[in-house]
Amino acid sequence: MTWSDDLSVGVDSLDQHHRHLFALVEELPRASDIGVEAVTGVLAQLTDYVAYHFAEEEGMMERSGFPFLDLHRHSHQTIALRVAEMAANLRPDNFGVVAEELRTFLSGWLIHHIEIEDFEYRPYLAVAK
Ligand SMILES: [Fe+2]
Ligand SMILES: [Fe+2]
Repeated sequence: MTWSDDLSVGVDSLDQHHRHLFALVEELPRASDIGVEAVTGVLAQLTDYVAYHFAEEEGMMERSGFPFLDLHRHSHQTIALRVAEMAANLRPDNFGVVAEELRTFLSGWLIHHIEIEDFEYRPYLAVAK
């Protein structure tokens, strides 16, 4: 799974964030081959970076007067909660399964969320730039 220009939201910094999220998700299988500590480490980076990206994106939407911020914020919260649940569920006897679940969930979600929800703010942020 890689980021491509089709997924551009028209703001370089946010495109970079999305690229970085894709790269972190793609580290999960390799981490899973190494062991539970490696998976825990990638998950911690993902949790932090997801929170950082959402805060930046929400700030930009707010400043641009994007009218559907509450809905978008709700969608972000749902994702962050799901990632936190998976992180809390991680144990030495299930890390391989959790890493794979997380990769499947996040790769599907990232593309879906960017194409459906992030694309909605494109015209607003393009004007605000
Ligand atoms: Fe978003
Ligand atoms: Fe985003």
